[in-house]
Amino acid sequence: MLTGFQHLHSALRWVVLFLLVWTLIQSRIGKSKGDAFSAKQAKLGLFTMISLHVQLLLGLTLYIGKGWSSMLGDSTIMGIAVMRFFVVEHLIGMLIAVILGTLGHSLVKRASDDTVKYKRQFLFFGLALVLIMASIPWPIRPGFEAYGWF
Ligand code: HEM
Ligand code: HEM
Repeated sequence: MLTGFQHLHSALRWVVLFLLVWTLIQSRIGKSKGDAFSAKQAKLGLFTMISLHVQLLLGLTLYIGKGWSSMLGDSTIMGIAVMRFFVVEHLIGMLIAVILGTLGHSLVKRASDDTVKYKRQFLFFGLALVLIMASIPWPIRPGFEAYGWF
């Protein structure tokens, strides 16, 4: 079961990355053309946020299920890069990214001006993308060769 969740969590990274990049591109195009902020653009932001929430739920399941949470506060693992990564860095980095993505959706909803909507969407999803790229255990990182591309 947990192995299945891990494969799903791993593959879903591409859905998250694609939706973030697509939302950012559409946001920039819409703003530069002076288009009204459409229902379609709002829905794109919503789907992006949902993909982040699904990753959050799967990630927390793995974090607790695979025993990473029980290592929290254990100073002996802090010197082991891969362990420190999953116990602290991946958790904190992705949590902040999911919060930024959620803000990117809800603050857009709250804005009344279309230019402000485009700006907020670009800023919050852009920051989330940077953090996610930095927090993924890419297999080219030393020590993370066991983690795949999918
Ligand atoms: C640990 C799990 C999760 C947490 C802590 C969480 C947290 C949140 C929060 C704080 C909001 C409010 C955002 C706002 O103010 O607009 C929200 C909205 C939402 N979440 Fe999640 N979520 C989780 C999992 C999920 C999952 C698994 C899904 C879907 C498969 C999901 C779908 C949604 C949807 C559709 C909204 C409403 C967005 C809207 O219409 O404005 N969430 N969630
Ligand atoms: C956008 C959000 C996220 C993305 C794109 C993402 C991406 C990934 C990727 C690519 C892996 C490697 C999977 C593999 O190759 O087997 C992974 C593993 C993992 N992630 Fe995330 N993640 C996200 C959010 C989270 C969150 C919020 C948590 C919560 C704690 C979390 C916890 C974990 C855990 C526990 C593992 C498994 C490590 C192991 O036991 O080997 N992830 N994640």
